[in-house]
Amino acid sequence: MEQYIIRGGNPLVGEVEISGAKNAALGILAAAIMTDDTVLIENLPDVRDINVLLEAMESIGVRVERITKHAVMMNSEHIGEVSVDYEYIKKIRASYYLIGALLGKYKKAEVPLPGGCNIGSRPIDLHIKGFKALGAEVKIRNGFIIAQADHLHGSHIFLDTVSVGATINIMMAASMAEGYTIIENCAREPHVVDVANFLNSMGANIKGAGTDVIRIRGVQKLHKTEYSIIPDQIEAGTFMFAAAATKGDVMVKNVIPKHLEATTAKLLEIGCEVEEFDNAVRVVASKRLRSTNVKTLPYPGYPTDMQPQIGVTLALARGTSIVTESIFENRFKYMDELTRMGAVVRVEGNTAIISGVEKLSGARVSAPDLRAGAALVIAALAAEGVTTIDDIIYIQRGYEDFEEKLRSLGAEIERVNSEKEAQKFRLRIG
Ligand code: UD1
Repeated sequence: MEQYIIRGGNPLVGEVEISGAKNAALGILAAAIMTDDTVLIENLPDVRDINVLLEAMESIGVRVERITKHAVMMNSEHIGEVSVDYEYIKKIRASYYLIGALLGKYKKAEVPLPGGCNIGSRPIDLHIKGFKALGAEVKIRNGFIIAQADHLHGSHIFLDTVSVGATINIMMAASMAEGYTIIENCAREPHVVDVANFLNSMGANIKGAGTDVIRIRGVQKLHKTEYSIIPDQIEAGTFMFAAAATKGDVMVKNVIPKHLEATTAKLLEIGCEVEEFDNAVRVVASKRLRSTNVKTLPYPGYPTDMQPQIGVTLALARGTSIVTESIFENRFKYMDELTRMGAVVRVEGNTAIISGVEKLSGARVSAPDLRAGAALVIAALAAEGVTTIDDIIYIQRGYEDFEEKLRSLGAEIERVNSEKEAQKFRLRIG
């Protein structure tokens, strides 16, 4: 089982290049099967979630050719199956995007119901509600969602909760429905806009993505395209907080600063300097940071996927901070691990009350999920001494070359596969 071993205490200094957005890529790859033409997708992050989705797509007959580490050509002319295997869904929840894509193109999809996950229960009732409104019959049988329709028709859909997944899934199916669809109370995340732009580049007619009302005029056919995915705002934000927590100076490159506004605002509030360029941001932290309060909200609010990263940073800030998680109910599991590193935290329901300490100290901890895992890496980089992080497979789901990128900023971090390798690294760092 792979682990990270980290010796903390070095301020991160230098430049880091951000990869393509994982969550945009998941939607875009699924949407790419909606044409029989060949599609070129660039700036794809080389992370486990993406590679598993590509395998799931190959298993139903999609031809995938890797051009480079970050580009694939895909052809979906010969999809023989509209049924996806459970093995893939188990590994990657967002393969539920294949329902919207297959339903839109073939008017039929069979995809196993995704299970729960570490950050809380994740219903897909809104996705189903949307498919039904478009005229599909949706049944759950033997653990599968089976959606089918003679034909899909446009509809007026109101989402009860702002959901990224439901917005993207319904948008995909509606792109190939007959007539006009209006989706209200949509998610406005940058990756919703990116999937809409991608579909439009294939000939779809989607307007309003990025606002809370999306209007879609269905088309019969989609065509070939070449498309480059937007930069990952969560990976970027993670490096911004890593700079802050280690009192570093990092230029985060290949980003869209507008997508980082909520993160930037919080970093300024706690006492960092943040300089914005056309496609980069520089974060400098030269003194001890101040406490603040933060509440996660749908975009453009502060992202739930950035909650653990600010949480660990506030554990070292002067004063008491209150972090409120309003999207997922189980996203404070990392606080127990952080406490083992010396943080002073009280979790009450969806609120964490953090009394900042001067120093954290290295300990053995486990990554409870993807973003919390990355946050524990930040804590370890800022802590005194050596930290061992277990279950780093979660982190590899969404961060490309994480340890290499951190090392290039001066971090002492090693991914090890055995006790022998761990010993070797410990001896090296002294
Ligand atoms: C996506 C992101 C995830 C991020 C989350 C919130 C991807 C692949 N994942 O997840 O990283 O943390 O957005 O920004 O893009 N809900 C329902 N019914 C539904 C769907 C959702 O009640 O049918 C609720 C959820 O329980 C949650 C809220 O809506 O409380 C938001 O979830 P949603 O935006 O759908 O998250 P995901 O799309 O799963």
